[in-house]
Amino acid sequence: MSLEVYKVLHLLGIMLLFASLGGMAILGLRGGDDREVKPIRKLVMSSHGIAMLVIFVAGFGLMARLGMMGAGSWPTWIFIKLGLWLLLGAGIVLVRRTPEMGRVWLFLLPLVGAAAAWVAFTHPPI
Ligand code: HEM
Repeated sequence: MSLEVYKVLHLLGIMLLFASLGGMAILGLRGGDDREVKPIRKLVMSSHGIAMLVIFVAGFGLMARLGMMGAGSWPTWIFIKLGLWLLLGAGIVLVRRTPEMGRVWLFLLPLVGAAAAWVAFTHPPI
């Protein structure tokens, strides 16, 4: 697959990730009977899992296309992105467990995404 296809897949995973995190935040704010909410929550958790996998696979595909896989140790910015990816992975549990904070997560979590984008565009030489 070409670099462009990996980039589109990477961004598709990111879009699905924030759709899922946003969905869980709204679900928490709306509340409601657990029997009613449970199947929707399950759907949101699955879409989040799929998004995390797509971001991961496409991210490593990008690294391979950019010749970073064979080049000894990875640059620090890749580890920063892995850390932010893990944070957004754990984020769904945090959002689910603190429904009253849905409004905060709705605006705070995309800032984590913006930080990952900044790292991707600038490759900070840390
Ligand atoms: C497993 C974790 C991840 C890995 C290994 C990874 C790896 C990469 C790589 C190698 C690139 C290409 C950089 C370049 O063109 O120089 C990239 C681009 C990008 N990544 Fe990631 N990434 C990961 C997670 C994330 C996450 C969680 C986000 C945001 C939520 C993100 C946002 C972006 C963006 C916005 C780009 C730029 C795409 C473009 O140039 O069009 N990445 N990523």
